[in-house]
Amino acid sequence: MSKEIYLSGDRPTGRLHIGHYIGSLRNRVAMQESGHYDPFIMIADTQAFTDNARDPEKVQRAVREVALDYLAVGIDPRQSTIFIQSQVPALAELTMYYLNLVSVSRLERNPTVKAEIAQKGFGESLPAGFLTYPVSQAADITLFKATKVPAGDDQKPMLEQTRELVRSFNRAYHTDVLVEPEGIFPEKGAGRLPGIDGEAKMSKSLNNGIYLADDADTLAKKVKAMYTDPSHIQVSDPGHVEGNVVFTYLDIFDPDKERVQQLKEHYQRGGLGDMKLKKHLLDVMEAELAPIRERRAAYAADMDAVMAMLAEGSSMANAIAEQTMAEVRAAMGINYFG
Ligand code: TRP
Repeated sequence: MSKEIYLSGDRPTGRLHIGHYIGSLRNRVAMQESGHYDPFIMIADTQAFTDNARDPEKVQRAVREVALDYLAVGIDPRQSTIFIQSQVPALAELTMYYLNLVSVSRLERNPTVKAEIAQKGFGESLPAGFLTYPVSQAADITLFKATKVPAGDDQKPMLEQTRELVRSFNRAYHTDVLVEPEGIFPEKGAGRLPGIDGEAKMSKSLNNGIYLADDADTLAKKVKAMYTDPSHIQVSDPGHVEGNVVFTYLDIFDPDKERVQQLKEHYQRGGLGDMKLKKHLLDVMEAELAPIRERRAAYAADMDAVMAMLAEGSSMANAIAEQTMAEVRAAMGINYFG
């Protein structure tokens, strides 16, 4: 039986944090392990250039970091094709054709892009490439004929636009070569890890993230610094669970849900101190993150092998993308010379 194709990826602008892990990487590894899929995992450096065009060294460095993060969490190059977006020229080619099938005003309505534009404060110097990155993302997904896209909730608008573009393309050129994909999003409640300060998002500028590459000491420091309940002063005081970052993390990382429930009740009654609670969270996180950290260090010791793996993955991805691109050209009638 032929396997379903899934495609996903990340913009390389730094190391990946545990929000990426919970939001998407964990799903990708589980889907890989299920054996039902042919996974494509893309390091989206072309997309990283849409807001880092003048900082190529940052992107170059981050490509290596993201590759290590992938290998560390268990994306296995024997089962998954890991590749670099810029090394597959057909992606840029299909993007050019897609751009004619979407209006500027439709692009301006994408809520994720809109929020990013506001947050980055582009103003009048918004790069055209940034506004249009969902179009290149549609090319990423459809050139591989992916039917599934495991991604974080913030990618929902991209999936929506991809489906619209597929329908527009297939209608305009009377074809069915392109396939409408479906997003695979985190289970309810498992989607969003706040920063250690309680801010909704982890970000480099807020310095509130936990990274897959963090060593044990750094992890311990960050857990110790987590926002809990400012009104919970004495151990004996009753405390709040809602909005308490430690409990949000426990809900996600502690496999023993009954124990979490008991801890919540104890905390609300009073008598459970933040120190003790944080120690428990650290143990639970360490159990999941230590093996990842160790694998990462082992791969980092042989960067040449990692680059060779990326070269091979990119070459395989390129061959597949070229096949679909030939079908696309034929559908558009631009296969002039056969
Ligand atoms: N937009 C994703 C991010 O912000 C990266 C990405 C690029 C992607 N192309 C994709 C994700 C295709 C899923 C499918 O990290």
